[in-house]
Amino acid sequence: MSEQTTIDQKAFRRALGNFTTGVTIITTRSSDGTPVGITANSFNSVSLNPPMVLWSIARTSRSLPAFEANEFWAVHILSGEQEALSNRFAKSGEDKFANLPVANGVGDIPLLDNCCARLQCKTAVRYDGGDHIIFVGEVIGFDHSDAPPLVFHAGRYALATHKSQPLSLSDNPASRGNSAFGEDFLGYLLARSHFQFYAQVREHLDKTGLNDTEYFILTILSIKGGRSIDDMNRLFSYTGHHVTSQTARSLADRGLLRVTGEGNSARCDLTDDGRNTTLHIIAAAKAIEVGIIDKLGYWEAVSLKNLLKQLISETDPGLAHPWDD
Ligand SMILES: Cc1cc2nc3c(=O)[nH]c(=O)nc-3n(C[C@H](O)[C@H](O)[C@H](O)COP(=O)(O)O)c2cc1C
Repeated sequence: MSEQTTIDQKAFRRALGNFTTGVTIITTRSSDGTPVGITANSFNSVSLNPPMVLWSIARTSRSLPAFEANEFWAVHILSGEQEALSNRFAKSGEDKFANLPVANGVGDIPLLDNCCARLQCKTAVRYDGGDHIIFVGEVIGFDHSDAPPLVFHAGRYALATHKSQPLSLSDNPASRGNSAFGEDFLGYLLARSHFQFYAQVREHLDKTGLNDTEYFILTILSIKGGRSIDDMNRLFSYTGHHVTSQTARSLADRGLLRVTGEGNSARCDLTDDGRNTTLHIIAAAKAIEVGIIDKLGYWEAVSLKNLLKQLISETDPGLAHPWDD
């Protein structure tokens, strides 16, 4: 072996973290029959013919003796919804399989559910890999699904989205780059996507003769009834719109609301008609969402929502959420 180098290990780890990977759990069974598994992102494909893969395990891993003793093991490529499972198998020595549904694969190796792909393998070669042992295995069986993968980058879990064609909404060069208000301006992108989405919802509002503020009141009350005008204004403050007792009375006159009391402390509840109207509009809005997700792709939509939630949290001055109380 070559001499130990004196590189900064933390910096080296950070440099390696730039290589984005999926996340796998590799399982086997120890000689006494105990299921064994670890989270590993050192997995890689090696050969198509014969089908071969590799991964490496730290010499300090408690699971190493089981992988050395059992020639069969399974690679589970995790889906985006299996972050908790990844964390469970990344903790040394815990009872990692407790309450997990497990099937038996070749050589009785434990197989986990709901992964993107599972590869059942037989050790072909083991190599010394410094403080790790490299296992190269021949794939003797596999299955896979369309579930989107869990991603690991720079020490954090991430979501994969497909890269779109560069967005160019306009031929005007001013839209690209130099202008202070170019098409890459976040405010423009957010506002435009909001208004384009909302314009489709508004078609349904128009049919029922509701304006934006009235729509808000109905949706807020469909989450929880008995709110006062003051309550609703607190929840509505992020929009810049303002609910007045006249707005509530106008909805009551149309049979959609029951208003008890006077002024801004009056309590408002949906009538049966109000609930029906609201449910129809919410169903229409959901159908619009489904149509957009169909076009974007499910995983892009999950990523977009994740980013929007982060943005809301980063810019939130401490406003209430409709679901808070
Ligand atoms: C995303 C991720 C990837 C990992 N990749 C590897 C790996 O490739 N090889 C390895 O030995 N440990 C890896 N680990 C750490 C092991 O999962 C961890 O040390 C585990 O606790 C070992 O369990 P054991 O000591 O019970 O065998 C990884 C952990 C995480 C969170």
